Amino acid sequence: MSSVSRALRQSSRHASRVVAQAMPKAAYSSLARAVVGKAVPRAAIQGVRGVKTMDFAGVKETVYERSDWLLPKLQEYFKNDTLALIGYGSQGHGQGLNARDNGLNVVIGVRKDGESWRQAVEDGWVPGETLFPIEEAIKKGTIIMNLLSDAAQSSTWPTIAPLITKGKTLYFSHGFSIVFKDDTHVIPPPDVDVILVAPKGSGRTVRTLFKEGRGINSSIAVWQDVTGKAKERAIALAVAVGSGYMYDTTFEKEVYSDLYGERGVLMGAIQGLFRAQYEILRRNGHTPSEAFNETVEEATQSLYPLIGAKGMDYMYNACSTTARRGALDWAPVFEKANLPIFERLYESVRNGTETRKALEFNGRKTYREDLARELEEINNQEIWRAGHTVRSLRPDYRPDSE
Ligand SMILES: NC(=O)c1ccc[n+]([C@@H]2O[C@H](COP(=O)([O-])OP(=O)(O)OC[C@H]3O[C@@H](n4cnc5c(N)ncnc54)[C@H](OP(=O)(O)O)[C@@H]3O)[C@@H](O)[C@H]2O)c1
Repeated sequence: MSSVSRALRQSSRHASRVVAQAMPKAAYSSLARAVVGKAVPRAAIQGVRGVKTMDFAGVKETVYERSDWLLPKLQEYFKNDTLALIGYGSQGHGQGLNARDNGLNVVIGVRKDGESWRQAVEDGWVPGETLFPIEEAIKKGTIIMNLLSDAAQSSTWPTIAPLITKGKTLYFSHGFSIVFKDDTHVIPPPDVDVILVAPKGSGRTVRTLFKEGRGINSSIAVWQDVTGKAKERAIALAVAVGSGYMYDTTFEKEVYSDLYGERGVLMGAIQGLFRAQYEILRRNGHTPSEAFNETVEEATQSLYPLIGAKGMDYMYNACSTTARRGALDWAPVFEKANLPIFERLYESVRNGTETRKALEFNGRKTYREDLARELEEINNQEIWRAGHTVRSLRPDYRPDSE
C-alpha cells in the first residue's frame, strides 16, 4: 500500500472512530463537524434549495440535493433496512464508511480472509457482527449494494442471484453488469427494485469529500421499479453514501459515458497525449526536466486547476498573448485529428468490446499481479521517472509523500 493510501485509510479510520463516539442524530452540520473537527460552512451542508430544474448550456435537467434529506429524515427512512455492501474496494470503503457514519445499519460482505476482509477489519467492521462472507451478508440485507469488481459481479452472479429475494432492493454503482447482460449474464429477478448510484469519482474521494462536509456528484438511475419507490430509494441511498448532488441518468447512458470517459481524457487519452508530446520534445534534444515541465508539471500545477476553477476561456486569458494565439490555432487541429478516435472508442464501448476485454482481464485469477505489472511499466517510463524528480523540487514536497 502506498503511503498516500495508508494515510487516507488512517484518517478515515480516525474519522470513523470520532463519529462512532459522538454519533450525530441531528443535521449534517453536526456530523461534518464531528468528522473534521471544525466548523463546516453552513451553506455547503444545509442548503434549503432542494430538487430543482437547472439550465445546463440551454438544456434543462433535474438536480436533486441532499438538503432534502437531512440526517433525521434519512435515518427514519432507512430505520428498518440493512444495507449489505458486497465488496470492499475503493467504493465499498467510501460508501460503506459514509453510510455507517450517517448512522445507518450497514454490513459488509466479502470473501473470507481476502485482502478486502483484512482492510474491512482495519476499518473497524467486526467479523460476525458487521462483516460477513458474501452470501451471509446478502441474506441479512434488505438493500444489496453490489460493489464487487465488475468482473466479479458477473462470475459470482450464479451464487448471488438466488439470494436476491422478493422485497429486496438491488443496487449498483455502474451500469456495466446490467446493460451488458449478454456478456455478464447478470439478469435480476423480476420482483426486486434495481437502482444505480454512481459517484463521479473514486471511492477515496467519496470518503474525503464526506469528511470535509461536502458531497460528491452522483448519477442515479432506475432499471426496474417494482415498488413504485425505486427512484426515491436511489436518491436517499445516494445521500446515505455521501453524495451532495444527484443527476438523472439511465443505466445505459451511465455505463457508456463512464467507460468512454475513462478511456478518453480522464485517463487513457491523457497518458497518450502526455507521452506523445514528451517524446517529440526528447527527440528534438530537450532535457527530461524541460520536457516534463512543459508537458505535465505546468498542466497539472498551473493550467488545469484554472480550467477547473473557471473554465477554458479563463485559463486562456491567464496566459500570454503568444500562448493564446498558438493554442487557438492548434486546438481545432487536435480536435479534428481526435474525433475519429473518439468515434471509434464510443463504438467500442457501445458494442461491448470494452466490456468483454474488462471481463477477461479482471476475471483472471492473477488480475491484481497482471495490473501491477502494467502499472509498473508506466511508472518506469522516462516521463514519469523524470516527474518523480521534478516533484521532489516542489516547495511543498515531503519525502514521505511518494
Ligand atoms: N473505483 C471507482 O472509481 C468507481 C467509481 C464509480 C463506480 N465504480 C463502480 O463501483 C463498483 C466497485 O468498484 P471498486 O473500484 O470499488 O472495486 P474493485 O476494486 O473493482 O473491486 C474490488 C472488490 O471486488 C472483490 N472481488 C474481486 N474479484 C472477486 C471474486 N472473484 N469473488 C469475490 N470478490 C471479488 C474484491 O475482493 P478481494 O479483496 O477479496 O479480492 C474487492 O472487494 C464497480 O461496479 C465499479 O465500476 C467504481
